[in-house]
Amino acid sequence: MDFTSLNISTLANYLRTVPSVTALLGDMDALDIVEVGDGNLNYVYFVSSQANPRASLVVKQALPYMRLVGEGWPLTRHRSDREAHALRQFGALCPQHVPQVLHFDSAQSLIIMQRLSHHQNLRKGLIQGLRYPFLAQHLSGYLARTLFHGSDLYLGADAKKQAVAQTINGELCKITEDLVFTCPFEDHASNVYSPALPRTEIERLHNNPALRVAAAQMKWAFMNQTETLLHGDLHTGSVMVNQTDTYVIDPEFACYGPLGFDPGLLLANLFTAYLSQDWHRLQAGEDPAPYQDWLLAQAGDLWRGFSESFLRLWQEHEDQAGAGFMGCARDASSQTLFRQQFVRRIFSDALGFAGCELIRRTLGLAKVAEVASIPDPQARAAIELRTLSLGEALLLQRHHIINIDQALDLARQTRRSLP
Ligand SMILES: Nc1ncnc2c1ncn2[C@@H]1O[C@H](COP(=O)(O)OP(=O)(O)OP(=O)(O)O)[C@@H](O)[C@H]1O
Ligand SMILES: [Mg+2]
Repeated sequence: MDFTSLNISTLANYLRTVPSVTALLGDMDALDIVEVGDGNLNYVYFVSSQANPRASLVVKQALPYMRLVGEGWPLTRHRSDREAHALRQFGALCPQHVPQVLHFDSAQSLIIMQRLSHHQNLRKGLIQGLRYPFLAQHLSGYLARTLFHGSDLYLGADAKKQAVAQTINGELCKITEDLVFTCPFEDHASNVYSPALPRTEIERLHNNPALRVAAAQMKWAFMNQTETLLHGDLHTGSVMVNQTDTYVIDPEFACYGPLGFDPGLLLANLFTAYLSQDWHRLQAGEDPAPYQDWLLAQAGDLWRGFSESFLRLWQEHEDQAGAGFMGCARDASSQTLFRQQFVRRIFSDALGFAGCELIRRTLGLAKVAEVASIPDPQARAAIELRTLSLGEALLLQRHHIINIDQALDLARQTRRSLP
């Protein structure tokens, strides 16, 4: 069948032809199908059978354009090949944190996957001030396992090069290169400035040569450090949670890139959640401090958990293989030093990517709901001055911040130091 943009009625007919779907849903005569996509790019449907409403699945179809804009913004529908491949690769490594792919149809750019029925989008949960006891533990484990196993530290040299060649995701990477690393750092037409954000501050950032250089360095790293298979868009809206589970969805931006990219994006989004609580918790009549402390504790635990697990996987792998990446180290100290410097470098990259993410979510096209939903323009701008200031500091100081506690202190100082 040639590619068809499916709708609720044509999708029902399609699903009746898919054995894994009929096996799961049972009676296919009367299906409930509802389109729920709240994202910018694709169509997402929940499907269940009226005869057995407890069995349910998700269908996601990529059309050859961006959903939010329509045909005026063409975009390869083959992004769903990248998403299905990444869901399967990450799912094999972390089945407890990735929805299972039940069926993938490349010709229709359509993925049928496990529905996370009792889970909420993490970004929405954080806006509401909810806590998730396993969040940092689960996400740090997910990061360590996915990022380690896609890298040359685990894969054979040839397998890694083949993997890089097979996961080229040029059009989606170009979006990141433009919208994360380029446009927000100049007065670009695609930028969106909130009404009360002082223009002098925007101009100051755009005219800061050191900041422009730092952003360009991160862009170069993103384009050329093909270190591991990334999720590529790991913000808090790509995480579904409840009190016991954590799932990572939506890896359509998956590509080979720097080890610090996914952790950096998550850190930045925890920082926007942290800074925006001065509005959200006060609106709820609460003291923001305890929840803000919890959010920064998550960021700290996330980084520490990731770096410790990554190093442990590395050690275990080399012990098992009986060979090390650096060859036969005659003395343990050279190996220890190499690993310490390696993780230190991932950390400074992660801070740089976090800085870019904070600035692009403030000045660039795509906003984050915890800030953009603040209805009072002055209050919103006050938070945005902080996200910009923290982003700038992380980018400029990324080589001098020696551990995550210093980065968290910087976040605290940024919150306090501005009016
Ligand atoms: N497996 C799933 N189980 C339950 N809900 C899901 C699942 N996958 C997606 N959703 C819901 O659909 C929404 C949109 O999904 P997703 O983020 O994958 O779409 P997208 O169009 O790629 O979004 P974006 O514009 O952020 O790239 C999610 O926020 C979530 O609410
Ligand atoms: Mg998406």
